[in-house]
Amino acid sequence: MINRGRRLRANTAIRDLVRENALTSKDLIFPIFVVEGENIKEEISSMKGNFHWSIDRLDEIIKEVVDLGIRGIILFGLPEAKDECGTESYNDDGIVQKAIRKVREISSDLYIIADVCMCQYTSHGHCGILKGNEVDNDSTLEVLGKISVSYAKAGAHMVAPSDMMDGRIGYIRETLDKNNYKDVAIMSYAAKYSSAFYGPFREAAHSAPQFGDRKTYQMDAGNSNEALKEIKWDIEEGADIIMVKPAMSYLDIIARAKEIVDVPICAYNVSGEFAMVKSAASLGLIDEKAVALEMLLSMKRAGADIIITYFALDAVRWLREE
Ligand code: PBG
Repeated sequence: MINRGRRLRANTAIRDLVRENALTSKDLIFPIFVVEGENIKEEISSMKGNFHWSIDRLDEIIKEVVDLGIRGIILFGLPEAKDECGTESYNDDGIVQKAIRKVREISSDLYIIADVCMCQYTSHGHCGILKGNEVDNDSTLEVLGKISVSYAKAGAHMVAPSDMMDGRIGYIRETLDKNNYKDVAIMSYAAKYSSAFYGPFREAAHSAPQFGDRKTYQMDAGNSNEALKEIKWDIEEGADIIMVKPAMSYLDIIARAKEIVDVPICAYNVSGEFAMVKSAASLGLIDEKAVALEMLLSMKRAGADIIITYFALDAVRWLREE
């Protein structure tokens, strides 16, 4: 007797009927980079098809996102001025705060997430306050709390701390609650690896560390139990959603997390993963649409409920063609 698995692959109809996982527009979050200035829509050279937007032109991209049926965006800001302590990050009139208010004006039902981190705002490019050449954990928490409150005040629905300091989720939850932002949710970049896949983003966000690396706070690529530890801690501290980042080389982490957690899992399909597909496609080596959709579907299959991806707009268009 031969076991005949091919019966259920015989034609499109049966394949559609038995498919276990699907990607939809409702799974995707689109990252948007905002800059000071006027009339700016400037393509990010390391991330083709993505742009730096000034506030006055945000309506163009927000309308596109909403029209495509995408439910959420995550905002990253490039401030005009940086300093040692990243003080511009919690300025109520800072770039992200202005963008949040503007998006709220443009759309009443788009879900607004704001990335909470200091690296775009510090002159040294690290994700926290320096003591000597070390990133000091506990003094950084205070700043993260201030940034979160400032984003909440501007109207963010959710804050997403990406700094990887210890205890930040508990600290931010407590600070938001104390300031009466009990309904503002937290998505923790819980298992964020120290990864070479962030290269194009750091060029886009002008956030590369000016010395050293992020290995004392972001996780070591060789570890997987450690990711589960970080994820459990963040849920205990009050994370509503946990994230695994990057996604493609860390699908095993998503799958292991899925086994143990009961909160939604977000996968961040990061800039390097995006750029690899884009550049290979531009050389005619791969089919961009097929590869991108397969990559995103693999994240769903691994266990992700939500995916942050620079492919979001194209992915929805491609899904509609199918
Ligand atoms: C900020 C932050 C980074 C990314 C998201 N938030 C960069 C970093 O940690 O160096 C990377 C996103 C991407 O590569 O697409 N801490």
